[in-house]
Amino acid sequence: MRSINRREFLGGTVAVLGVASLRHPIWALAANSAAASPNPLLLGVDYYPDQTPEALWDEDARMIAEFGFTNVRIAEFAWALMEPSEGKFDFAWLGRAVQTLHKQNIAVILGTPSAAPPPWLTAKYPEIVEVNAQGAPLHPGGRRFTCPTNKTYRRLSLTIADEMARTFADTPGVIGWQIDNEFTLGSSPRCYCSHCQAGFQDWLRSKYGSLDNLNRTWGTVFWSQSYSDFSQIPVPLPSGGDPNPGLALDYNRYQSYANASYLEEQLAVLRKICPRHFVTTNNIGAPYDMIDMRSLYANLDFVAFDNYPGFFEMLLHEQSRSAPVSWDYIYAATALGHDFARSIHGKPFMIMEEQSGKAGQRTFSPQPEKGQVRMWTYQAIAHGAMGVNYFRWDTATFGAEEYWHGILNHDRSKSPSFDEIKQTVKELKALGPEVLTASYPAETALIFDYDCDWALQIQPGHSALSYATQVTSWYGAIASNHSGIDIIAPGTDLAAYKIVFAPVVYLLSEAQAARIRSFVQNGGVFVTNFRLGAKNETSQMSRTPLPGLVRDVMGVTVEDYVPIYSAKQGVKFSSTLAGADAESGIWADILQPVTAKVLGTYTSGAHAGRAAITMNTFGKGRAVYIGADLDPASLTRVLRSFAASAGVKQALDVPAGVEVTVRSSGSKQWTFLLNHTDTVQTVNIPGPHTDLLSGEPQTRSVSLSAYGVRVLQAS
Ligand code: GAL
Repeated sequence: MRSINRREFLGGTVAVLGVASLRHPIWALAANSAAASPNPLLLGVDYYPDQTPEALWDEDARMIAEFGFTNVRIAEFAWALMEPSEGKFDFAWLGRAVQTLHKQNIAVILGTPSAAPPPWLTAKYPEIVEVNAQGAPLHPGGRRFTCPTNKTYRRLSLTIADEMARTFADTPGVIGWQIDNEFTLGSSPRCYCSHCQAGFQDWLRSKYGSLDNLNRTWGTVFWSQSYSDFSQIPVPLPSGGDPNPGLALDYNRYQSYANASYLEEQLAVLRKICPRHFVTTNNIGAPYDMIDMRSLYANLDFVAFDNYPGFFEMLLHEQSRSAPVSWDYIYAATALGHDFARSIHGKPFMIMEEQSGKAGQRTFSPQPEKGQVRMWTYQAIAHGAMGVNYFRWDTATFGAEEYWHGILNHDRSKSPSFDEIKQTVKELKALGPEVLTASYPAETALIFDYDCDWALQIQPGHSALSYATQVTSWYGAIASNHSGIDIIAPGTDLAAYKIVFAPVVYLLSEAQAARIRSFVQNGGVFVTNFRLGAKNETSQMSRTPLPGLVRDVMGVTVEDYVPIYSAKQGVKFSSTLAGADAESGIWADILQPVTAKVLGTYTSGAHAGRAAITMNTFGKGRAVYIGADLDPASLTRVLRSFAASAGVKQALDVPAGVEVTVRSSGSKQWTFLLNHTDTVQTVNIPGPHTDLLSGEPQTRSVSLSAYGVRVLQAS
């Protein structure tokens, strides 16, 4: 048996990781070995030996190896088997599973099991359950029903993680860890229990220092809420009226902190006991917004997330109960997730779970079309992924996820995507390190700000106004330009970008206003829309005329703001934006230009003829205010026109439904073409290229089959 250890295994990933200079020293260690390995990707599958008769493990390991996979992730829900009663541990079975896989040179990522505590634990410590937003305790029987603050639960989670780490620190084949599973992604993303209330009060004590400061910042004089002791501060459970917005926003921040600090405790243990292993966790990334992903991943080695475009489609369909959702919303949300994951550390990311078949718990998502799973895989790589694990190897014949199809069916026959995934793995291994380690250049940034998002969830202003939807729509509009986009945090230095898009900057701090001001002053183009600067970061309304702190930069005053319900509103474009009139949706900021030029006016109602879109020259740059909620086609036209005027080049002109991304290294560049549609598409290309997947030379145009993919290198 050829032994594979994590150093050797990671040697294979070093090209990607080395180039990306991941900051944890384990990568430097890996860099000393096997740098010339031909496979720079982690390509694996999520496997459940705990749910599989041991008699099948050998066969599974052999098949997984034959499939071409390099790794598995296992054990993230197997607490009851690892600790059958409190303090009694049994890792023998897991050791045998790791060994069986290792014999086939399959490396192992171990999951700590804290997302699903066993019944002995909840029976003995019933106080560890989460309390939902209605004040009702969740019940054991599912998963993800525990409180992130509860000290007992933290202690028990740490104990099992610690025992696992000690047991597997030097086990050949083990290369890294996933902590827990999908933080906050349960039926109740936030906990409102008494432990969280006490944790919140402590957190507020250190944030505000004094009650005077807290009372002033929240404005608790309103409705007689002045606190005279930190222990009086409630959590935002149902009351006779809405909570104080400052308190409610801080509670979202606290919940995010509680989950991230819970993760950090396990991380500290893993770092200490397994210094040579990598550590990550899996979440689902933007536009999911119930936890600040940036703080969750802050100290992890890389971002890993779970990607289920087909399941997402089913959820959207169920929510709207209408015709199937258009491809471009799914595509935008998926691509946004990838760009967000890459942008968190500015480094390659991993898909820890990639949808491989029909997905669902009570109902099935659509069966992925032929070619679609391959295309989703390439989409991740096209946006900078360094690894893809498919969910899951076999399909469970029991438990809540019997409908969630894996690579093998219930009867262990091949699923419809078996051959497709196998072929994809083979192709990716052959693609070679140079392209797979190339960087992902972006001259455009889109700001994703959790504070704006959470403050709008608390007070949307209009029942249909959602930050996540606005960001996704803007992403889709900008992405149609087919040039790189980074998804950045509000504190990011903007100087690296030609243009920065920032929808619904509802909360604006002085520091962020200063960043925007200096970006525009120095030649950047800043494009934003309604509700700009309405509040400060404490969630108090601006005391100066809107757009508050950036009035000079934008060169306008917001004279009025108008939520739109049944009355129709439209926008007529002028000057550089001249084109077909737009329909305007849920919101209209009525703009009074001061130094800005008007590029669009409202067409109906009391505000007909008033400014809807303005552009201001400020210093060497420009600031654009889009006061209207433009229909998708107009939004796309308008945002693309500003990107073009900022000097951002469209990679290629492609038909609707085709996505293009470019990865590059020095003067070399690789163009990924992804067909998201079920029809053949033709793309014109500038000059001769080679398609690295087929080896075929391509001259003027290439065709893409339904859900087809091309990776083109200029020849
Ligand atoms: C993911 C989760 C997995 C599994 C999968 C299918 O969100 O991490 O544990 O539940 O979905 O439901």
